[in-house]
Amino acid sequence: KQPVEAPEDDASTIPELREAAKGCRRCPLWRDATQTVFGEGPDNAKVIFVGEQPGDQEDLAGKPFVGPAGKVFDAILDDAGVDRQKVYVTNAVKHFKFEPRGKRRIHSKPNSGEIQACRWWIDQEFELIKPNLAVALGATAAMSLLGKAIPVTKMRGQVIEREDGLRVFITIHPSFILRIREPADKEAERERFLQDMKLVKRLM
Ligand code: URA
Repeated sequence: KQPVEAPEDDASTIPELREAAKGCRRCPLWRDATQTVFGEGPDNAKVIFVGEQPGDQEDLAGKPFVGPAGKVFDAILDDAGVDRQKVYVTNAVKHFKFEPRGKRRIHSKPNSGEIQACRWWIDQEFELIKPNLAVALGATAAMSLLGKAIPVTKMRGQVIEREDGLRVFITIHPSFILRIREPADKEAERERFLQDMKLVKRLM
């Protein structure tokens, strides 16, 4: 597979940046993924939600948070009264990283080099959109936004202010809720995430 030649590095709008990211080869993940999954949402959004990386369905659709974790995310945003159409949703890493297992592709966690390489894109998304608030959905997003490991379960519900003034709200990744089997525990975790999203609505 040949990479698309990226246009110049001076995108001044989100559509230009999205176009440039199609040809990204800043790390090796482009080789096996179907396509770059860039952020989506209005370029005047007050808040940017940052996930980890596209999953299997996002890789095929070319859109962030459209698979199982995205469905949980959408439903809880809706319950919190946050309109997904008015927020910008992106990922720390923009290509799907996976291990093939038979016909299935099993999600594999991006490493710190891949997160660092992809900051090229996410930093520009923030520069162009200039949101009031960032929401880190899980540890990979927190690492990308803050440049260091954050104990997410301890820090969730809190805001960390970056040196440049950006406020970063820390919470869990919605796929964490999906993985809980016990119904009462699952419901309790869903409720906690809902409370976090209500707080985000107040902060944005
Ligand atoms: N998980 C993520 O972190 N991002 C997506 O886009 C989908 C699942």
